[in-house]
Amino acid sequence: MPATIKLDATQSADVEKAASLLLAGHLVAVPTETVYGLAADASNEQAVRKVFEAKQRPVGHPLIVHVASPDRVRLWVDHLPETARQLIKAFWPGPLTLLLPKKSGVSDFITGGNPGVAVRMPAHPATLATMEQLGRDLVAPSANPYGRISPTTAEHVLAGLSGKIEAVLDGGDCSVGIESTIVDLTGDTPVIARPGQIAQSDIEACLGITLAPGKSASQAVPGSVKRHYQPVTPTVGVATDQFARLLPEVTSAGEKIGVIWWQSPPDERASEAIMLSADPNEYARMLYTAMHSMDKANVDRIVIELPPRESQWLAVHDRLGRACTEQFA
Ligand code: TXA
Ligand code: MG
Repeated sequence: MPATIKLDATQSADVEKAASLLLAGHLVAVPTETVYGLAADASNEQAVRKVFEAKQRPVGHPLIVHVASPDRVRLWVDHLPETARQLIKAFWPGPLTLLLPKKSGVSDFITGGNPGVAVRMPAHPATLATMEQLGRDLVAPSANPYGRISPTTAEHVLAGLSGKIEAVLDGGDCSVGIESTIVDLTGDTPVIARPGQIAQSDIEACLGITLAPGKSASQAVPGSVKRHYQPVTPTVGVATDQFARLLPEVTSAGEKIGVIWWQSPPDERASEAIMLSADPNEYARMLYTAMHSMDKANVDRIVIELPPRESQWLAVHDRLGRACTEQFA
């Protein structure tokens, strides 16, 4: 395949180009508010197959269907539960994926053979415009090679998938920065299958019910393998209240250390340092970009200062738990 081309999401001709490439069965990475997605025409099985090849993702891992409007969910499910209606009204377009009982005939290639299909309406205007132009829905896993950090810029996409996809639509930095919350509505009661910016308390407030305590990552979501979202560089997490004390213990003499911190500025032992934020949403927005930068910075080890173990940090802890080979507290 020729080199991946970069399209500009602010140019309508480039959005049209993205739509025509997708219509022709090619892969195009597209911006969303969460992370960049590796998009293919959901109605074209050949195109969907290419997604697995490009990402080196094991076949059988299901894909989220992205729609340009709520009424398109009807094409994927027979019956929309009342809970889904309420959540869609409150949170779409936005970082919320709903797992719903699928319509018969929905390809096992998309659902991984599961009885549910995952659907979301992303909030990026250029990606919505691309889908409207296309007149079809898209499957879009995060646009990273399997197991690696999700991309939050077009440059991250190119660093991982250049030459493996036809184009990337550059829509700037992702505003949420971590993957969507997944709510499983296929059972008797809603379950958070993947935590995200939309928290359990937001779902509960919307539905007027109390959910079972959130798991940090459900086994029900096959993509939720422990080794995931990892930098290539060995990465460890250190609890914030132990940070100064433990930093020398978790690193070896002579090692080049890159520190990603939010509260405890590292001393001169750190050859690189990136500051995040004390605000959970800000921290999440910056996290993958910081991990991508550190991974390129030629350090021997990345040390991440972990946030407190509090509910508003649940989604961030979920991602850090996968990114770190070890955590110290
Ligand atoms: O924010 C997001 O959701 C991003 C952007 C690009 O939209 N997409 C994303 O896709 O994170 P991916 O493929 O990296 O993660 C999708 C997760 C996986 O854990 C997968 O197993 C789960 O959703 N999933 C998708 N369809 C499913 C299904 N039918 N049944 C169970 N789990 C499903
Ligand atoms: Mg992913």
